[in-house]
Amino acid sequence: MKVFIHDDADTAAAHTAVIAARSLQRKPAAVLGLATGETMRPVYRHLRDLFAKEDIPTADFTSFNLDEFVGVPPSHPGSFHYFMAREFLDHLGNTGTRCFLPDGMAPDVMAEAARYETSIQMHGGIDLQLLGIGRNGHIGFNEPGTAFDSRTSCIALSDQTISTLQGFTPHLDRDMLPEFAITMGIATIMDAKRCILLATGSAKASAIRAMLEDAVSNACPASVLRNHPDVTIILDRLAAEGLTEAGIAAFQPVFNPQVRMFHTPSDNEK
Ligand code: F6R
Repeated sequence: MKVFIHDDADTAAAHTAVIAARSLQRKPAAVLGLATGETMRPVYRHLRDLFAKEDIPTADFTSFNLDEFVGVPPSHPGSFHYFMAREFLDHLGNTGTRCFLPDGMAPDVMAEAARYETSIQMHGGIDLQLLGIGRNGHIGFNEPGTAFDSRTSCIALSDQTISTLQGFTPHLDRDMLPEFAITMGIATIMDAKRCILLATGSAKASAIRAMLEDAVSNACPASVLRNHPDVTIILDRLAAEGLTEAGIAAFQPVFNPQVRMFHTPSDNEK
């Protein structure tokens, strides 16, 4: 596991974008696992900039988003379909026909979840999975208590997640506040060849500490990433502020890594 700590959230997001862009340069037909949420918004802004300025192939990748709310139509500004269209997919030469999200309006959401899981596998699995983290340590919408062998399914959002959505997702008002989501499972995420988790801001500090310093347990679903063979954690100082000296000694984070797009990255920067 590699841990990077940047001074500010924007540089942490830029680092995440550069890793995704480099992976497309290495493998234009890569399968990307994508995330939504406020943390990811600047990542897509940086990716759009990189795509505009640099020679990055964008026509051939496939993507699978982690999750979508149940019962929020794609045209609703609170849906993850809408978020992805606005922040990323509408800006691509790629027509979006290979950019998938679960269908939260499907009449049978469990069947839709199973179909989505199969579709990921039929595309050869995910090469690079981007992840945020919930304040309660969720990844995707795998809430605390989710079994580590879970696959894509329809889950009930926790009260904490619903109240966070209420406070921070301006387009989801009381009438539209979702209670369920289709999410990739923890085992689905762990099958990705590489995972990048980005966390910024002090609201994530206790989840980051639990993820890195508490026992690996489904009390903090993100802690499962410590069992993944290729995971990179990118933080800003605020998200890292809960780490203890012992945690820092154990994970030896790289502080203020230099992140540039075009050069051969040194080993401690990849
Ligand atoms: C979103 C997702 C969630 C978010 C997490 C953090 O696709 O799967 O796990 O990454 O809830 O959300 P923000 O970034 O809004 O704090």
